Amino acid sequence: MSEQKSFYVTTPIYYVNDAPHIGHAYTTIAGDVLTRWHRQRGESVWYLTGTDEHGQKVLNTATANNADPLSWCDRLVNDAWKPLWQQLNIANDDFIRTTEARHESRVQKFLTELKDAGYIYAGKFEGPYCVGCEEFKLPADLIEGKCKIHSKPVEILSEDNWFFKLSAFREQLLEHYRKNPNACQPESARNEVVSFLEGEVRDLSISRSTLSWGIPVPWDTKQVIYVWFDALLNYATAVGLGESKDFSKKWPADIHLVGKDILRFHAVIWPAMLMAAKLPVPNQVFAHGWLLVAGEKMSKSKLTGIAPSEITNHFGVDAFRYYFLRAIPFGSDGSFSWEDMSARYTSELANDFGNLASRTIAMLEKYFDGKIPEVANEPKLSGALQSTVKAADLAISSLDFQGAILQILEFCKLVNGYVTEKEPWKLAKQSDAVNKKELSDVLYNTAEALRALAVLFNSVMPQTCQKLWRALGVEKTLGKLADQRISNVAKWGQIPAGTATSKIEILFPKIEAEE
Ligand code: MSP
Repeated sequence: MSEQKSFYVTTPIYYVNDAPHIGHAYTTIAGDVLTRWHRQRGESVWYLTGTDEHGQKVLNTATANNADPLSWCDRLVNDAWKPLWQQLNIANDDFIRTTEARHESRVQKFLTELKDAGYIYAGKFEGPYCVGCEEFKLPADLIEGKCKIHSKPVEILSEDNWFFKLSAFREQLLEHYRKNPNACQPESARNEVVSFLEGEVRDLSISRSTLSWGIPVPWDTKQVIYVWFDALLNYATAVGLGESKDFSKKWPADIHLVGKDILRFHAVIWPAMLMAAKLPVPNQVFAHGWLLVAGEKMSKSKLTGIAPSEITNHFGVDAFRYYFLRAIPFGSDGSFSWEDMSARYTSELANDFGNLASRTIAMLEKYFDGKIPEVANEPKLSGALQSTVKAADLAISSLDFQGAILQILEFCKLVNGYVTEKEPWKLAKQSDAVNKKELSDVLYNTAEALRALAVLFNSVMPQTCQKLWRALGVEKTLGKLADQRISNVAKWGQIPAGTATSKIEILFPKIEAEE
């Protein structure tokens, strides 16, 4: 067992007030791609996702559905959330639910420690609260008494609560972001956080007395812990906060992926909580943009949520995984459109990638009886591959998924151009030795390029790349696809001559147009 610290990636834990939509899938897929890529770098990676089950929003939905909150959560977790992650091939290592005993006990212990350290005090909260955000709001957060995000009226709370001395960490947080520009990304997110911290930072109410669906405050059991205080701790409780000696093998988290609407919780409150407990803060919080419908954040509450199955039933899981990371710069908002998805599916996936695979495997079958010919090299291709791998790896390091995919696509286009230029089908018609050698070289090089493409696209489209890997017949000699290292992929000439290829099903079948 290695003692190396894992590269630790998290998604937000999702509210189980409803079934997932493609906005939720977007973050989880991004985390999965990052996880798989880092695993292919040879790193030990820990990927966590889960569900946020306490709070008023979940309670209200359960009540409206005549269910007790826990049975409601059980039902949604088991019938909707977990099956979706399975269907989308999410390779998470753990799934935390905030109603689990391991979480609840560790949260209570953490809070008690903060109180003992003098960071928790009794006070009165008076002001607006948005149940949709589960957030105490400031007047500036509202438009005509409504939450800016949910466009719904807020509640006015007046409660005796426990408070966390958030204000005490303002300077330390500012210092942290000044010293570590990478700790909050992209740039726009960091600027937002810094300018928030430069303003007035108020202490935070961290309990609710008018709600019972939550973790009891250990020393005042009439109150429950504020759902965000409870939820943020999932990242640490899931890896053994305060109890497991292995905690430091995972903590601090390397990347918290979050949507931009929940940036402040992650980049202000969460590190302050950790600072109060004298624990290391996460290495990076990355805020991605929203999927929009009609210019607004897609959401179930606004009835604009698109279920992932609406897309996967049509285009398949891998094209779904591919599309959003390819089409929208991570960090920016983007709209989903069937036309754009359809166009990219056809041109980039079916034509550029899928056809290259089908025709190469078919030509190997036809001209070489399904055996990889003699090892060859083509400096233009192998050189381009080296720079592709370097650039894609660099792009992933800065969570530029679109950039990484574009690099790989470019390489794919280059290989297509090579095949078109060499016209192997014409070479095959000539019987002289020179043309035969050329045909052999062209097909060897194309097969090698496909090997590299399978490795490079594997984190985004694992099922498709596995089909290609199998068709190339390389598992026995080169090992499992998931074990192929990014650092080794550009080494040309890896497929041994004589390797038996096999039939490949169409990777991206033609899609019949529908109304
Ligand atoms: N439970 C909190 C998170 C607690 S993390 C300690 C929460 N849950 S949520 O279910 O409402 O949202 C979870 C994530 O989904 C957020 O990052 C949010 O930005 C993201 N998305 C919800 N709708 C989205 C889009 N339309 N587009 C992209 N992401 C979206 O907040």
